[in-house]
Amino acid sequence: MSNRVVNVLAAASVAGMLFATFGLSAAGAADPAEQVKDRQQTMKKLGGGMGAVAKYVKNEGATAEDAAKGVATVLAVSKMDPKAIFPEGTAVGVADSAAKPELWKDWNDTQKRWAAVQPAATQLEAAIKGGDRAQIAQALGATSKTCGGCHEDFRVKKN
Ligand code: HEC
Repeated sequence: MSNRVVNVLAAASVAGMLFATFGLSAAGAADPAEQVKDRQQTMKKLGGGMGAVAKYVKNEGATAEDAAKGVATVLAVSKMDPKAIFPEGTAVGVADSAAKPELWKDWNDTQKRWAAVQPAATQLEAAIKGGDRAQIAQALGATSKTCGGCHEDFRVKKN
């Protein structure tokens, strides 16, 4: 076989795999109530990760290793596609969603807000590796801001 044919075959099988994977996940998550639950789970992971770092900074029983694991979780989640976390049709009114419909009004803006988490978490990870608590506290605050800004505008306050 020529290289060209091999390449075309390889591309075709990769496309097939992607299609199969995508098809599966799309089918599995098609229920809006499930999507809301998934998002809340995802957000809880973020909250848990940030919480571990905060506990370390405040000396409340978390070790440096806990903090490192926490920020690794935040980083991993931050790399997810926001479209998968915030699929359309999952605003307030669907299950117990607290996502304001405004979140979908300017999707570019929402994407930017989501994309801001990753660089902040990367700096937080570096600070944790560095071991300077003051620096970690500062980077934690900066990362928190990326969460809080989105919550402030797009999340219904629950009491
Ligand atoms: C692009 C916007 C956006 C960003 C960025 C964001 N969140 Fe959220 N978050 C939301 C929305 C919207 C909800 C409400 C979700 C729902 O109820 O369906 C939410 C809900 C939550 C919840 C409550 C989940 C539950 O149990 O109902 C936690 C905890 C949370 N976020 C933590 C975080 C943390 C920590 C970060 C930053 C590392 C973060 N979020 C970044 C939009 C965002």
